[in-house]
Amino acid sequence: MKNQIKIIETCAQMREYSLNLKTENKTIGLVPTMGYLHEGHLSLVDAASEKCDAVVVSIFVNPTQFGKNEDFSKYPRNFERDIELLSQKKVDAVFFPSAKEIYSENYQTYVEVEEITKKQEGEFRPEHFKGVTTIVSILFNCVKPDVAVFGRKDAQQAAIIKRMTDDLQFGIKVIVAPIIREIDGLAMSSRNVYLSGKERKDALVLRKSLDSAVKMIESGERNTKKIISGMKGLYSKVDSAELQYIRIVEEKSFQEIEILDKGNSYYILIACKIGATRLIDNELIGL
Ligand code: PAJ
Repeated sequence: MKNQIKIIETCAQMREYSLNLKTENKTIGLVPTMGYLHEGHLSLVDAASEKCDAVVVSIFVNPTQFGKNEDFSKYPRNFERDIELLSQKKVDAVFFPSAKEIYSENYQTYVEVEEITKKQEGEFRPEHFKGVTTIVSILFNCVKPDVAVFGRKDAQQAAIIKRMTDDLQFGIKVIVAPIIREIDGLAMSSRNVYLSGKERKDALVLRKSLDSAVKMIESGERNTKKIISGMKGLYSKVDSAELQYIRIVEEKSFQEIEILDKGNSYYILIACKIGATRLIDNELIGL
């Protein structure tokens, strides 16, 4: 069955819509996205509708989180298709502001989380997280959600948003939902459309290397340098792969560690270019 979705393009209208829901005592779940939706995004919508009476999905390709040489202008967009997909879900409204609506000519305010943004993705995309935390703050202020849902696909982003939400006392519950993958294991991403047929196959090296790490850990390996060097071996066989990093970090702080300890949880994080397309993936390990 198709669901009628309200499309909201201004911040003032978004705030008014949310205030009306609140006067009806309805809780609001927000799923922030940059559109070109796939099953990963839709799983976040399901998680939000389980927790809340009303669901708002935002679609905004946020210019401030793209570096100068990144893919902002060619980032895939298809609003009609996105609405079609969302209308098959329990979504009440889509917040779809223009760049001008969000960033006025005289815009000059940014939100920056300090330590946890510096390493891993922060090393390779220096301004990225500042753009993310700024737009997410703006979305929080426009939508005023009770709950916001993010994907573990972007594990560092989710941890940073949790930090920001606590630090700035937004009073919003942040939920982090699991990674949704294609049948062959590739993590779903809007950027996967950039991959050629051969690159699409080559991209499986990310998942394979995570599987090999899990096996090493299951068979007792606790030294992260050894685990990472075992994983790296797989990339040298894939000519389109240009590995940017593999890191093993503590789940909450994103501090890199040398020896895995019982009772703790860790992320194995990967960023790798396949041809011209930059992909990230990760595995959460609980010992
Ligand atoms: P975008 O890349 O569109 O992702 C929107 C949300 O979907 C993020 O929380 C992301 O982690 C989640 N997601 C993406 N692929 C997923 C997958 N395969 N499984 C589960 N969840 C997945 O992330 C952003 O947009 C932006 O940075 C944003 C937070 C919207 C701020 O602009």
